[in-house]
Amino acid sequence: MNSTKRTHLLSSLLIFINTTVLSRFSLANDTLTQGQSIKDGQTLLSSSKIFDLGFFSPGNSTSRYLGVYYHNISTQSVVWVANRGTPITNSGGILTLTSSGNLLLLNDQGNLLWSTKSNPIVSNTSVTARILDSGELVIGSGDGTVIWSSFDHPTDTFLPGMKVSLDRKTGTRTVFRAWKSPNDPSKGKYSLGLDLSGSGQIFIWKGRRPRWRSGQWDGTRFIGSTMRPLYLYGFKPIVDNSQNSMYFTFTQFNSTPLRFVLQWDGVENTSILVEQTKDWRSVWVQPVNECETYGKCRDYGICSSDRVPICSCLRGFEPRFSEEYNSGNWSGGCVRKNPLQCELVNSTNRSNKNITGGNGQGDGFYKLQAVKVPDLADWQSTVVNGEDCRSSCLKNCSCKAYSYVSGIGCLFWGPNLIDIYQFPQGSGSDLYIKVAGSELGKRC
Ligand SMILES: *[C@@H]1O[C@H](CO)[C@@H](O)[C@H](O)[C@H]1NC(C)=O
Ligand SMILES: *[C@@H]1O[C@H](CO)[C@@H](O)[C@H](O)[C@H]1NC(C)=O
Ligand SMILES: *[C@@H]1O[C@H](CO)[C@@H](O)[C@H](O)[C@H]1NC(C)=O
Ligand SMILES: *[C@@H]1O[C@H](CO)[C@@H](O)[C@H](O)[C@H]1NC(C)=O
Ligand SMILES: *[C@@H]1O[C@H](CO)[C@@H](O)[C@H](O)[C@H]1NC(C)=O
Ligand SMILES: *[C@@H]1O[C@H](CO)[C@@H](O)[C@H](O)[C@H]1NC(C)=O
Ligand SMILES: *[C@@H]1O[C@H](CO)[C@@H](O)[C@H](O)[C@H]1NC(C)=O
Ligand SMILES: *[C@@H]1O[C@H](CO)[C@@H](O)[C@H](O)[C@H]1NC(C)=O
Repeated sequence: MNSTKRTHLLSSLLIFINTTVLSRFSLANDTLTQGQSIKDGQTLLSSSKIFDLGFFSPGNSTSRYLGVYYHNISTQSVVWVANRGTPITNSGGILTLTSSGNLLLLNDQGNLLWSTKSNPIVSNTSVTARILDSGELVIGSGDGTVIWSSFDHPTDTFLPGMKVSLDRKTGTRTVFRAWKSPNDPSKGKYSLGLDLSGSGQIFIWKGRRPRWRSGQWDGTRFIGSTMRPLYLYGFKPIVDNSQNSMYFTFTQFNSTPLRFVLQWDGVENTSILVEQTKDWRSVWVQPVNECETYGKCRDYGICSSDRVPICSCLRGFEPRFSEEYNSGNWSGGCVRKNPLQCELVNSTNRSNKNITGGNGQGDGFYKLQAVKVPDLADWQSTVVNGEDCRSSCLKNCSCKAYSYVSGIGCLFWGPNLIDIYQFPQGSGSDLYIKVAGSELGKRC
């Protein structure tokens, strides 16, 4: 990756940089002023001594990176990296704040390895770069204007005060991207962010393919995850309907630091700092088992980690390719055994009876208990109880299933049912699957 380039703009900038490298290294300081620099070996330290901005080598690598990491924790705990893809090969790195309010990272040859590309300051107010106790690196002007913030350019760690945002108007969103390996902070395969469709679900992707989704937010937690209620940690969504945008954020719950890390292996690991040991203790890990892998059992399949094999077809459905299915290849998913009555009969002359538990007339529903409900749900804002949710699904032939989730309301599914997971313990929601009445009397 050769993005190091020497521009003559840069050389001219360098002439103007009064490189007063902070010499008072022993004095803790959290701020760089215009023209000041720090070099490898020096750090900025946030005022309560929580975070450092400085140079580090990850894992067994000898390359040098500029990043933000916890100050007083034995395990190297990097929360942000500047030059992810442009490592410094020796200890000659230098970080400078220019007079126009740009942070530049240069190597000892004067090559530019990274910069904030922040908007140049036109006025002559003073500008500083500062590492805050939240872990945020900010460039701001004297009047309090934030010119640039590392929280708007996250790497793999979600900290209190950060946002996971989606702006559907402009199509911009926050994306956390995992490291390539524990020894290499350059961009890896996995990323995490909000579902572009606006469902409010958090996704982990591998490349462009979904790997995991959280399920919808019900006011206290994500319904598709086994995480403890996140609202206890101040976790909440902020929705701006007029702007068609939303974000999730959380606040520091108490003095215990909490962080969400998208690890290099595609696992989201949430951990808290244990004061006594000064080390991290993991509190949730997602996904933890194969069944949580997005779409593991494909269309109309359900995954249960305590069954062998883990995939089976929903009742009323059968494998598309039964031989492959039985040998553990679920790529074909499942198909409906008997068509829905509403699909056979023209809806204008159908007598549409609700015959749950019935025997062959019309269509009905059966209940799947405590599951991760499928992806691609629609939401009926006008329906406010389970009974109306059911009847509106029954009336609409393209509705394949519904679920009435408290804190969310009436969810229903038109497209294929994908990514249903039978939770091992109590969590999850009840899902009602529409099948031909003839299927309802049968055992599965
Ligand atoms: C930190 O640096 C700023 C700007 O140079 C200075 O005003 C301040 O006194 C310094 N603080 C400490 C604790 O050295
Ligand atoms: C660092 O460790 C990885 C395995 O974690 C290994 O593959 C690699 O060769 C090591 N690199 C060096 C420079 O030791
Ligand atoms: C850093 O941690 C050590 C023990 O791990 C402790 O003795 C020391 O006081 C801590 N320093 C700060 C500034 O928190
Ligand atoms: C800012 O610019 C004005 C007008 O050019 C000048 O009078 C003032 O001294 C400048 N202030 C600083 C801090 O450079
Ligand atoms: C989660 O992170 C902790 C440290 O923060 C680590 O000890 C643990 O191994 C990680 N868990 C997984 C499954 O990677
Ligand atoms: C699974 O079956 C499909 C359809 O027969 C086939 O195309 C595919 O290669 C198989 N995949 C594996 C991993 O066996
Ligand atoms: C209902 O529609 C089907 C097929 O569209 C037709 O065969 C049947 O005669 C109709 N029944 C009535 C009562 O109109
Ligand atoms: C049902 O019948 C009506 C009139 O007979 C027709 O206009 C409509 O397209 C038909 N719908 C379907 C789904 O076949």
